[in-house]
Amino acid sequence: MIEAGQPLGVEQPKSFAFTPENLERAKVAIAKYPPGTFSPIMPLLHIAQEQAGWLPTAAIVACADLINMPHIRAFEVASFYTMYNRRPVGKHHVQVCTSGPCHIMGSDDILHTCRNKLGVHGHEVTADGKFSVAEVECLGACVNAPMVQINDDYYEDLSPASMEKLLDDLANGRPVKVGSQTGRQKSCAASGPTTLKEVK
Ligand code: FES
Repeated sequence: MIEAGQPLGVEQPKSFAFTPENLERAKVAIAKYPPGTFSPIMPLLHIAQEQAGWLPTAAIVACADLINMPHIRAFEVASFYTMYNRRPVGKHHVQVCTSGPCHIMGSDDILHTCRNKLGVHGHEVTADGKFSVAEVECLGACVNAPMVQINDDYYEDLSPASMEKLLDDLANGRPVKVGSQTGRQKSCAASGPTTLKEVK
């Protein structure tokens, strides 16, 4: 059982077991990789996180045991990627990208807007359990910077005002628009087309 390196101040459940349905999903994931390799650890961790809502140490161990992977190797994977939450997160887990392009486009303001509006810092979850905020590396949507990922969805072309509105809407259960918040089509130039303007 892994003990060193567990996040401080996090109450860990003593055990974790996949539900029968998720165990079947885990077996399907394992079968996609060559036998005896550790490659299935990533989808297994995803399934475990989906089930528990976050990734307790006991869940990491259960995933490793399914493929006879040394616990510490599985822990290395789980602690490297920010997509794995080794602490409980809010119902809406806001991941703010602060890498190069997002930084240039104002991600600091987006991060401050989230933290100030929600009153959370570090790994805290809001008192009502609705929100948590994390600062993460590039999420691969640089063209639409600055952006955040909330649970499985991307919200792009943000400003402090649109970020605040997004948080308000989520807090109040109102529908929100996924993708660009300025209405631009996917990753098309924000200033509009510069070529192929006339269709003949
Ligand atoms: S730098 Fe933010 S998505 Fe790439």
